[in-house]
Amino acid sequence: MSAITCIDDLKRLYKRRVPKMFYDYAETGSWTEQTFRENTSDFDKIYFRQRVAVDMTNRTTAGQMIGQDVAMPVALAPVGLTGMQHADGEILAARAAKKFGVPFTLSTLSICSIEDVAKATKAPFWFQVYTLKDDDFMERLMGRARDAGCSAVVITLDLQVQGQRHKDLKNGLSAPPKLTPASIANMATKVGWGLKMLQTRRRTFGNVVGHAKGVTDPSSLSSWTAEAFDHALDWNRVAELMKMWGGKVILKGIMDTEDARRAADLGADAIVVSNHGGRQLDGALSSIRALPAIVDAVGDRIEVMFDSGIRTGQDILKARALGASGVMIGRSWVYGLGAMGQAGVTKSLEILHKELDTTMALCGHRDLREVGRDILLVPEDFEGRWQRN
Ligand SMILES: Cc1cc2nc3c(=O)[nH]c(=O)nc-3n(C[C@H](O)[C@H](O)[C@H](O)COP(=O)(O)O)c2cc1C
Repeated sequence: MSAITCIDDLKRLYKRRVPKMFYDYAETGSWTEQTFRENTSDFDKIYFRQRVAVDMTNRTTAGQMIGQDVAMPVALAPVGLTGMQHADGEILAARAAKKFGVPFTLSTLSICSIEDVAKATKAPFWFQVYTLKDDDFMERLMGRARDAGCSAVVITLDLQVQGQRHKDLKNGLSAPPKLTPASIANMATKVGWGLKMLQTRRRTFGNVVGHAKGVTDPSSLSSWTAEAFDHALDWNRVAELMKMWGGKVILKGIMDTEDARRAADLGADAIVVSNHGGRQLDGALSSIRALPAIVDAVGDRIEVMFDSGIRTGQDILKARALGASGVMIGRSWVYGLGAMGQAGVTKSLEILHKELDTTMALCGHRDLREVGRDILLVPEDFEGRWQRN
């Protein structure tokens, strides 16, 4: 490929370089994938107002997320199994994020452990926790994140039960990958990926294996994950977990104004309006359609972040203009990682930053913090007029 100019270019390279099983794992949504598709296509329904003859010198996209200075209000979202997209993927992504000046979030279900990432980056990162039944494990997990100097936990609320992704079942997704004739034949064509994987010892879930009771090797992991998630999770349990952590908390997976109010009542530092990138409730609204009502409901009480569907800087600007204090990106950085390792994550951040900065300028603004809804043309029925029950 000659020049890489957009996130889609990185996605094409990623598809070529990473085994099908892991490409499919990222590039899919649950069930019919309606929500997965609409997360991106709904951005196209919003337009910008083009403004001219406005001084465009000295622009800045800098800002803050939960009180932390950022080069642009974009955090790397937690993504499970990242170390299967590229050897030591979480470490590489955390390093790229640190260099760029944006937060990195490590998933509970990462391949590199909390300690691996802390040692390799020496910079505070955010840690995402899934709410698991095992209190001992949760206490230890939070303790490990505290010891590693994590500056916030992101509690993911939308995965008590898992939305089905057909391709993962068909591919027999696992970490490390199961060796079947089909997976071996496919991996044999991904030489660069394979050579780097052979050079690392990190090939299974680093935060779990050897830490959760009875999970001493990858083969015992699948039964553990099937049973580990806390199906009984409710707001009381969320409050307990917040207390257990005792530091800054971001609640991720809020799509409804009533839930947003509950989160604000609990005193969380931020919420993320997110449908998990279309991987959980298929048939939910796209995140961008859900965002304005949630900002209206709680935006004056709590920081409202946004994710799901961001593939361009224009998307970031639209979410920001609709009231998101900042955004998380998932697949956009994973494409970069799978395509080119750390340099690819940096590339994806550079692409998004350039698009964001230029688009902001062409909308007549120099400071992202001053951008509001007035830069947009939003269809009157964008949020939808729904029957009340
Ligand atoms: C491959 C993949 C794995 C993910 N794993 C996690 C996870 O472990 N924890 C979590 O809270 N969210 C997880 N997510 C959801 C992301 O954090 C984020 O909400 C989503 O990717 C945003 O949508 P986008 O990919 O369209 O940007 C995952 C997403 C993807 C694509």
